[in-house]
Amino acid sequence: MRAGPLLDHAPREGVRTFTPRWRNSALTDSRMANLLPARALPEGPLVPSVAFGREGPVVVEIGSGHGAAAIAFCLARPDADLVAVDVHVPGVARMLAAAQEAGVDNLWVHPGDALPFLTERVAPDSLDAVHLFFPDPWPKQRHAKRRFLQQHTLELLASRLVPGGVLLVATDSQAYAAHARSQLARHGRWSVVQGERPDWRPDDGFEAKGVRAGRAVTELACTLRP
Ligand SMILES: C[S@@+](CC[C@H](N)C(=O)[O-])C[C@H]1O[C@@H](n2cnc3c(N)ncnc32)[C@H](O)[C@@H]1O
Repeated sequence: MRAGPLLDHAPREGVRTFTPRWRNSALTDSRMANLLPARALPEGPLVPSVAFGREGPVVVEIGSGHGAAAIAFCLARPDADLVAVDVHVPGVARMLAAAQEAGVDNLWVHPGDALPFLTERVAPDSLDAVHLFFPDPWPKQRHAKRRFLQQHTLELLASRLVPGGVLLVATDSQAYAAHARSQLARHGRWSVVQGERPDWRPDDGFEAKGVRAGRAVTELACTLRP
């Protein structure tokens, strides 16, 4: 599949939003080998009827970590299919084990970088929502180019969401919240409402860590304007 509409802000060559540094344990390897096949997407373009066996609302979570939010969403919204995307294999393996334990059947998993996944495999106008919860904050100004929300990623998300689709962002970094608000305003296609944590999202993981450290959480619900 071609990349869809051209991006008017190209990603910078070699700039990644994550640090690819980890070791897989034997448990991680065995979970990936045994549990991933049932939740992996078929190769090539994402075709909901083929991948999920139905055509309901489709949500992508970017940087799903160990999957608590993804699993909770799937339990709360059995009508929807959610694709959880993360590069960090040990986290993906934990999510697979937790999803099996929870018995969810509408959670799908793509272990990899969300940018090429969205660019090359997700069709324009095909997602109902994108979730970005506690993205790596990259707090130093010289690393700001690594923050996930940039003009080119907002353009990519806007092209993949249906009109009226929603981008949910949560962060416990004040610097990231300010960065997100300014990127969204500059992009100009989002109605942004600052609000509450979605009632289905558990407050564990990075959120709990931030709250324990006394950091306030910013929740942004961003609706794509036509
Ligand atoms: C700070 S963690 C938050 C994890 C989870 N959302 C939570 O709230 O517990 C950020 C996650 O984003 C992932 N990540 C960063 N850039 C990514 C990208 N381009 N594609 C997929 N995952 C990415 C990292 O591997 C990491 O697991």
